[in-house]
Amino acid sequence: MLSPNSTIGIVGGGQLGRMSAVAASRLGFKTHILSDIPDPPAGQVASHTTIGAYDDPQILESFANAVDVITFEFENIDAKGIDLLSSIRLVHPSGHILRISQDRILEKSFLNDHDIPTTKWLKIEQPSDGEKAGAKFGYPFILKTTRLGYDGKGQAVIHNPDEFEAAFHTLKPHPLIAEKKVDFACEVSVMVVRNIHGVVQTFDVAENQHKNSILDLTLIPARIQPDLRQQVQELAIHLANALELIGILGVELFIDRDGKILVNEIAPRPHNSGHWTMNACPIDQFEMHIRAVTGLPLPPAIRHSDAVMKNLIGPEDMALWPKIMATPGLIGHLYGKEIAKPGRKMGHVNILFPYNSLPGEFGIRAMLQDLYSKE
Ligand SMILES: Nc1ncnc2c1ncn2[C@@H]1O[C@H](COP(=O)(O)OP(=O)(O)O)[C@@H](O)[C@H]1O
Ligand SMILES: [Mg+2]
Repeated sequence: MLSPNSTIGIVGGGQLGRMSAVAASRLGFKTHILSDIPDPPAGQVASHTTIGAYDDPQILESFANAVDVITFEFENIDAKGIDLLSSIRLVHPSGHILRISQDRILEKSFLNDHDIPTTKWLKIEQPSDGEKAGAKFGYPFILKTTRLGYDGKGQAVIHNPDEFEAAFHTLKPHPLIAEKKVDFACEVSVMVVRNIHGVVQTFDVAENQHKNSILDLTLIPARIQPDLRQQVQELAIHLANALELIGILGVELFIDRDGKILVNEIAPRPHNSGHWTMNACPIDQFEMHIRAVTGLPLPPAIRHSDAVMKNLIGPEDMALWPKIMATPGLIGHLYGKEIAKPGRKMGHVNILFPYNSLPGEFGIRAMLQDLYSKE
């Protein structure tokens, strides 16, 4: 167990690192951010920041030596870098988990090997594999890079055989992965956290709605049958144990039209779809993560409220900020990013409802229309 005033090293300087650093500071820890871009959002709230490349051995070595434990908010540091960090300090979650989650093929193989259902998939190595995918999944199917995808980047929908070859050459690096396009009833996610003693806690299951492949809204609780919610949580606990996870992990899932659960992807870090926990839970995903990586006890991941989380994306949503601040009941969070580029996650808003009284679809839409209306 790390004592107060110890320093947690966080690889990555984005909003997830920023909110982790704030949670760490509440528990009396210091944070040291490693970022490859200048003035990272997390650096604004951390005790120290190192700016340097994630594959520079000297940078990694001096960063590791300056901290007491290392964690991530960004999982795409290469294997050599992880090994170097791990040779100097404890790294949570471990390099083995990062490697699995960095690669969609390793990830789906791990899940399937542990009896966790995923979308049907096929490794794509050459142009002729397109026909195999078409035969296996029908059209349309989805072609994705195995690495470095986020917010729907690195993906193409293949509507007919003629579209395959161009997409195959555009998406890099190879191999790629083809996935059956799931006709889902809804998308959900669950945050699961596990500590060094094998204590596992899961937050409630959230329902996610995407716009242009970027998370737009999260609703809590997910509007699915309670027994399905429980199955999703049990799946997450099984996965956390199978990975020997230390830290928090987000699991993204589809619920298909027959009520079948399929895992889409996993992320061994705090997750955008867990931001609702910041206001609807006594202990949020960031504190849970910090507790897990510092060896503190993990209390149950309870919530006291239902909630809606709305992402603030790009200049359009940033323009709403004064109105958000002026509206009672809207709890705003901004990430300290200077320029609101289209598609960029600038912040989010949480709206709370008493436990068990999440409004229906119309109520939520009406509330958001109010936010976007001009008067
Ligand atoms: N196989 C699939 N079937 C249906 N929709 C999909 C599929 N894969 C991805 N999507 C949609 O695209 C979104 C982003 O894809 P995802 O694989 O989660 O990549 P990332 O979040 O890394 O960009 C998903 O949340 C989902 O809405
Ligand atoms: Mg995703």
